[in-house]
Amino acid sequence: MASVADHAYRLMCKKYGAALVVGEMASSKGMFYSDRKTAELLAVTEEEYPMGVQLFGSEPDIMALACKKAAKFQPQFIDINMGCPVQKVVTTGSGSALMKTPQLAADIVKACVDAVDLPITVKIRKGFDDTCINAVELACMLEEAGASAITVHGRTKRQMYNPPVDIDIIKAVKQAVSIPVIGNGDVATPQLAKEMYEKTGCDLVMVGRGSYGHPWIFEEIDRYLTDGTLLPSKSIDERLEIMLEHISLICQFKGERQGIRESRKHAAWYVKGMHGAAKFRNACGALDSYQDVLELVRQVKACNPAQE
Ligand SMILES: Cc1cc2nc3c(=O)[nH]c(=O)nc-3n(C[C@H](O)[C@H](O)[C@H](O)COP(=O)(O)O)c2cc1C
Repeated sequence: MASVADHAYRLMCKKYGAALVVGEMASSKGMFYSDRKTAELLAVTEEEYPMGVQLFGSEPDIMALACKKAAKFQPQFIDINMGCPVQKVVTTGSGSALMKTPQLAADIVKACVDAVDLPITVKIRKGFDDTCINAVELACMLEEAGASAITVHGRTKRQMYNPPVDIDIIKAVKQAVSIPVIGNGDVATPQLAKEMYEKTGCDLVMVGRGSYGHPWIFEEIDRYLTDGTLLPSKSIDERLEIMLEHISLICQFKGERQGIRESRKHAAWYVKGMHGAAKFRNACGALDSYQDVLELVRQVKACNPAQE
């Protein structure tokens, strides 16, 4: 997830049970022009393995070149984004706009597959809008073009992130292709993960926003799928400890100044649901130093005394 799933976030998700992580999407054009910031998005560390990086773009030859450059960062696969609904991306014909140009989408996959010796996977949506619901046809074309796996977010571009996910379209894609299919959308509890597996037959489940301020969701899901156990909710103290661990990592990788700025949204996600959360949300937005974070933790604890 762009601006969310950075190195620190991925390490937290891995530590708390994620089987596989993917980097924030990076522009193929940025790669082409050797943009330094874009290259930072592609950095991969062995601790994060198994890990893939994600590229977006709309020109097969530039995407192929970007894959070659991305391969140097040693990801274990390269994912192509065909689901991003952001206007800036869509107007260039990239991201979810590719749902409307399936032949170009297939040409991109073929060019990337030919360019590197790594699995090329693709993330798609249900379709572009109500008049263009084509995840099944597109998935078949992408498989034919050489894609190794497909993630389906069960909403159209027009639906952005809100209406309930269409589970049936994920099931239909799974039935139509023989490569692995990853189900995505609204998986925020272990029960919903199980439902995604059972109702769609998908091979893996992808969790996005359900991991906000809750990276241990992956071990909760894992345990539930393994033996039906719903792990007890973490205490406020445990949650705050994990938040501190996360923010320390962000600061370690990005420096305190930038790190704390980027930690504000994470802090707000961690304190969500705690007593006084509305008040603390504002305090999160004003965090300026690690010391402020420690003070926030002190105040949240004072407002949320430990239960015997
Ligand atoms: C802030 C934000 C950033 C995202 N960035 C990406 C991205 O870079 N690449 C991608 O494939 N999907 C991205 N997504 C979409 C998510 O991966 C996921 O498909 C979507 O949020 C639905 O899953 P969820 O309900 O589990 O969050 C992003 C979503 C959000 C909310």
